[in-house]
Amino acid sequence: MIELKDVNFSYDSVKPVLNNINLQIKCGEFVAVVGANGSGKSTLAKHLNGLLVPASGDVVVIGINTKDATKSLAVKQNVGMVFQNPDNQLVSAIVEEDVAFALENLQVPHAEMKVRVEEILEKLGILECRYRSVEELSGGQKQRVAVAGVLAMRPRFMVLDEPTAMLDPQGRNDVMALLKKLNSECGISILLITHFMEEAALAERLIVLNDGNVILEGAPKQVFGEVELLHKSGLLLPQITRFCAELKLREGWGIVDEDECVVELVKILEGS
Ligand SMILES: Nc1ncnc2c1ncn2[C@@H]1O[C@H](COP(=O)(O)OP(=O)(O)OP(=O)(O)O)[C@@H](O)[C@H]1O
Ligand SMILES: [Mg+2]
Repeated sequence: MIELKDVNFSYDSVKPVLNNINLQIKCGEFVAVVGANGSGKSTLAKHLNGLLVPASGDVVVIGINTKDATKSLAVKQNVGMVFQNPDNQLVSAIVEEDVAFALENLQVPHAEMKVRVEEILEKLGILECRYRSVEELSGGQKQRVAVAGVLAMRPRFMVLDEPTAMLDPQGRNDVMALLKKLNSECGISILLITHFMEEAALAERLIVLNDGNVILEGAPKQVFGEVELLHKSGLLLPQITRFCAELKLREGWGIVDEDECVVELVKILEGS
């Protein structure tokens, strides 16, 4: 589990960026974090693997406090990070070399490295790209290579900071399907930061940040029911939720997927 206890942080000791954050991310969970620009999402993400440490409060990753510099490698191995732009994350020219890079740093024996790299590329559906130049790949493929490089370290948690922001709709769908699969089939805990509410709706739990504060937390249905608070935080609802809200299909709870919307529409039609 990753636990944040009363976490406060500021870059310049003047303007607070994270205010008294208390959160838990349990093993096996799929959590999404949303919030307007500058609300502190990336700053929060960087606290989860020790890239940043709190000014006060604690972040504890599977029992290790991220302030313990002697254990920072264990923290980084357990919490893999993927950022928005895969070009900034990919380090080698050839796909399989890139995936192996982190393993070389960890001094994994060559034979095991080969097996792990193959396994991961296969799982991510990019084994055929193995010997290709990273530069030739599409955005979605590049992002999958970046995910592969992180997965090679066998982390228990993956934190992804807007991993689909630079992708086309197909690339976005591919990356989202991959994250769902890694979570459900491999049990990797996912924390996804996203600007796309449709992606956030796919998480088990949703956290809303506003000005460095957690203002809402819960199942997407519940959170997307808080229309006014979300508007005040500068967030749009998923398209399907907006559609249902316009039609006043149901009071209170947000509708976050198309099937549910259809059920509600049928109820109305049958009632009329
Ligand atoms: N390296 C930095 N030095 C100083 N201030 C920073 C730094 N990085 C971020 N900030 C400030 O901290 C606040 C939170 O930024 P952060 O990048 O965490 O927000 P965000 O929610 O990820 O925004 P976005 O949606 O634009 O990615 C902003 O006011 C930002 O200007
Ligand atoms: Mg950010």
